[in-house]
Amino acid sequence: MRYLILNEGELEPRVSLLPESAIAIFGQSFTGMVERGAGLHASRSDSDYSSAGIQVVSREEGLKQADLVLGILPLSESDLNLLAEGTSVWGMYQPQWHPERLKYFEERRLNLYSLDCIPRISRAQSMDVLSSMATASGYQAVLEAAAALPRFFPMLMTAAGTIAPAKVLVIGAGVAGLQAIATAKRLGAVVEAFDTRPSVKEQVESLGGKFVVVEGAKEDKAAGGYAVEQDADYQRRQAEAIAQAVAKSDVVITTAQIPGRRAPLLITEAMVAAMKSGSVIVDMAVSTGGNCALTQEGKHQINGITIIGDSFLQRQKAEDASRMYAKNLQNLFKLLLKDGQFQPDFNDEIVRGCCVIRDGVNQLNNH
Ligand code: NAI
Repeated sequence: MRYLILNEGELEPRVSLLPESAIAIFGQSFTGMVERGAGLHASRSDSDYSSAGIQVVSREEGLKQADLVLGILPLSESDLNLLAEGTSVWGMYQPQWHPERLKYFEERRLNLYSLDCIPRISRAQSMDVLSSMATASGYQAVLEAAAALPRFFPMLMTAAGTIAPAKVLVIGAGVAGLQAIATAKRLGAVVEAFDTRPSVKEQVESLGGKFVVVEGAKEDKAAGGYAVEQDADYQRRQAEAIAQAVAKSDVVITTAQIPGRRAPLLITEAMVAAMKSGSVIVDMAVSTGGNCALTQEGKHQINGITIIGDSFLQRQKAEDASRMYAKNLQNLFKLLLKDGQFQPDFNDEIVRGCCVIRDGVNQLNNH
């Protein structure tokens, strides 16, 4: 069997498999191919891959020959047209929100494993690419904020006087938010955090952050640990608490998301107007509409406030983000290979959960 590691193109510096991970998964019993330049921005050259016995090929050559295609971004229609029937593809397809991406997989009788569909159960934690990418992006969000802030993060006692530590507010204490809290604390900031899930209070406090409690949040066990939409009364009380916290913060990092819906709008124009000049907002929810009313993709300034909208900050740490993605794949492949052969175990709920198209048949309704 032949596998192909894709080059994700100009906008995406990550690569799905570093050479060492490819060898750890497939050994020498599969023929390895890598698209030219795939690892360049993740600190791996073509010769690193060829030294590991992986053949460097063009995209077209690779897609035409591969049985297993490993990537991150969704393949285009013209790419899919090059694949032979029965080929299996791995990547991040978000099929629940983009069902149109599945059509060609069905028509061409392909197999699709979408890594964002791996169930969020304890046994699958080592395969959870969403958590890996959220870890990298939460870390980077703080570095971006620290670079844009015209003030220091830590308290500094110098001969030129004492400088107070920066105040950082993190809204949404999921995987990215918790990493942002930990990183901001390491840099010496004073950190506060909000979340609608009271269960994260302990985690925030264990990282040295202060959890701002807004009583009466709805939680739903059926949401699998995710947040659910809150009622109008809660939203009003939360908005008051956020307004107070935003006004005294130097940095606000927002990560709040609700699966399948627009991100909650938590920072209004009036709240931004009340911030101190020089303050910074990093809105990591921009791809689903943003948590701040003034967020745009990229960086801009309004009345002395810098607003950064970026939902793919993990791209700034392409090597380690690739390493984590590859390690997640490596753990998943333990369920897909048997005795050195590609033989997915469809009795396993993790395999069933992420296999979105099997032999051209859409599996989403069976999940
Ligand atoms: P996410 O990216 O969907 O959301 C980020 C955070 O925003 C969440 O903590 C959410 O509660 C919060 N949020 C949503 N609406 C909000 C609002 N109006 N105000 C303030 N905060 C709001 O979530 P993420 O980080 O991907 O994961 C959430 C949870 O999923 C984890 O904390 C955990 O319980 C569970 N999980 C389980 C895994 C496993 O067992 N394999 C792996 C990763 C996560």
